[in-house]
Amino acid sequence: MSKIEFPIDKHDWQPSPLPGQVVLVTTLAADGEPNVAPKSWVSMAAFGPPPVLMFGCTFDHATARNTMQRGAFVINVPGQDLVEQAWRCGSDSTTQGAARFGACGLTPVPSARVAPPRISECRAHLECETDGYREWGREVVVFGRIVAASADTGALEGDQAARYSYLSPFFFLEDGWAACLGVARSVERRDIG
Ligand SMILES: Cc1cc2nc3c(=O)[nH]c(=O)nc-3n(C[C@H](O)[C@H](O)[C@H](O)COP(=O)(O)O)c2cc1C
Repeated sequence: MSKIEFPIDKHDWQPSPLPGQVVLVTTLAADGEPNVAPKSWVSMAAFGPPPVLMFGCTFDHATARNTMQRGAFVINVPGQDLVEQAWRCGSDSTTQGAARFGACGLTPVPSARVAPPRISECRAHLECETDGYREWGREVVVFGRIVAASADTGALEGDQAARYSYLSPFFFLEDGWAACLGVARSVERRDIG
């Protein structure tokens, strides 16, 4: 197969070789008002201990501001039934803070260990304490120590394929394009050396 170069500017990636799982990040503003925003530049960063994850965010977003001011956030994992809500949540800049939950059909519920809420309709939750930043101009990667993890019982029952089927994560491909996780399957592992 011959190789063709394409631009390194991510705006021009069609297709994007790096789909990102869509999560809903919940935070609290300085005055305690909850906020929710979708993020797809998200990844584990270290097994730890402590386990660390990271997400990329524009500096001007309430999410970045809140994680810096309040030192905590929650990564909520939506299932495929929330694709439309996730896009609506990230596209309507007129609705912010607590009102955005209702406008997007999302319900904030208390977390186990941190002040920002979990989202009832999401299927798994990673509660984090902010653990630093790395900045590039107006963009920032936020690191968080995972201090609590929880999921719907449906995500923790049955065999592995059934658990991933329940979790049903989905991914941001490029502007206006999403994809869902296919059927999970086991892969034979052969340790060599
Ligand atoms: C599916 C989806 C994924 C997104 N991923 C990111 C992301 O990874 N980083 C980011 O800064 N903005 C991302 N956005 C845009 C923000 O969610 C959007 O600008 C939002 O209004 C920011 O809200 P905030 O100011 O309350 O944080 C995404 C939007 C959508 C719809």
